[in-house]
Amino acid sequence: MSVSTAIQIYRLLACILLSGYAVGTGIKEAAAALNGLMLAYDDSTGLWDLSDPDAAWWQSSVALQATLDFMTASGTREHLPYANYTINMQRAPLAWWPQGGGDFRAESTDDTGWWALAMTSMYTLTGERSFLDIALEDEAYMAQYWTLSECNGGLIWRIQDVSYKAAISNELYIELTATLHNLIPWDTTFLNRSLDAWDWFKDSGMINSGWLINDGLTKAANDSCINNNAPTWTYNQGVVLGGLVQLYLATGDAQFLIFGRNIAGAVLASAQLSPGGILTEPCPLEGCPDGNAASFKGLFIRNLAKLNAHLPDRPYSLFLSTNANTMYVNARSSSAGDTDLYGMLWQGPFDKTSIGRQQSAVMLLVAALGV
Ligand SMILES: *[C@@H]1O[C@H](CO)[C@@H](O)[C@H](O)[C@H]1NC(C)=O
Ligand SMILES: *[C@@H]1O[C@H](CO)[C@@H](O)[C@H](O)[C@H]1NC(C)=O
Ligand SMILES: *[C@@H]1O[C@H](CO)[C@@H](O)[C@H](O)[C@H]1NC(C)=O
Repeated sequence: MSVSTAIQIYRLLACILLSGYAVGTGIKEAAAALNGLMLAYDDSTGLWDLSDPDAAWWQSSVALQATLDFMTASGTREHLPYANYTINMQRAPLAWWPQGGGDFRAESTDDTGWWALAMTSMYTLTGERSFLDIALEDEAYMAQYWTLSECNGGLIWRIQDVSYKAAISNELYIELTATLHNLIPWDTTFLNRSLDAWDWFKDSGMINSGWLINDGLTKAANDSCINNNAPTWTYNQGVVLGGLVQLYLATGDAQFLIFGRNIAGAVLASAQLSPGGILTEPCPLEGCPDGNAASFKGLFIRNLAKLNAHLPDRPYSLFLSTNANTMYVNARSSSAGDTDLYGMLWQGPFDKTSIGRQQSAVMLLVAALGV
């Protein structure tokens, strides 16, 4: 056992003894993390940025999703005006991609996918048809970028130069189309698209022999598409689980859950992604590409929790609660009243704040409420 592991165990035990009962994070801790996220909310734009030069536009859709997840879990509607304000402000055509025409139609298919999924959550929460309509517009936009000319299918990632079959764009598309199917009575179109996208994805080569998903595809010398061996980012293991759960709900076919179990099990068994049982991004703290990577762990966790909820043996409950409690004890900055900030490594120590770090923390604490 390393010294730092010993210190972590000591701190966890001290916390159990001091509190007089088992450590457990709950709604109060999730609310304090959300307060930390709201510190970064910019009233003039409706975006979250925490003055982070690396904060990207897509991350505000994920912060919005974290806020909606908290409202769904807690029953409060306190943050709904902020959520709607963000949507009303950001659905205008983008300064850097006006040709998309607004309503979140962006220059990369994944950015559109994140916002579209948040629109389906907003529709579920409010019942307001306009949010579903935006998600439908976004799906139609993404569908245009399904190309047969390379890799026999799949969505391209970068719209500017119509390049790169990336895992994330395709996972988001599978989840979005299956979610739309489940929201729209009598739909057959979106289920057909989701199943086609899944059939392509599962045989595309992106899922490696160890059941982990690499970042995307590249061309081999003989022109066929093969796994590019780029990092197995945690969100690439996560969004697919959300898609598989929606496909299971759409079809009742348990094969989708079994697939999900294989991927989730590979993450939990990976020394790189779950050292000591704590979810970790496959990059060193200062070596992550930019602020984007801090968002990834929360996205894995929220989807792992969805899979967990649909498996009768709830195989990931312990993982979820252990990660939440470890983060609370080791990665939290000293709390200012009812506002908590969290760092990049859930093993600790706290390094600094950013929108991705904080949104991942909210998603983890919300996911742990359900176990
Ligand atoms: C969101 O804002 C729009 C435009 O102002 C309004 O029509 C709609 O009712 C609002 N919805 C919610 C849930 O606040
Ligand atoms: C989806 O529809 C197309 C066109 O009708 C059809 O060729 C394809 O087999 C369908 N996919 C599934 C999974 O049913
Ligand atoms: C093309 O090359 C890749 C990588 O070397 C190989 O795995 C694949 O089997 C080849 N495909 C064909 C059709 O020869």
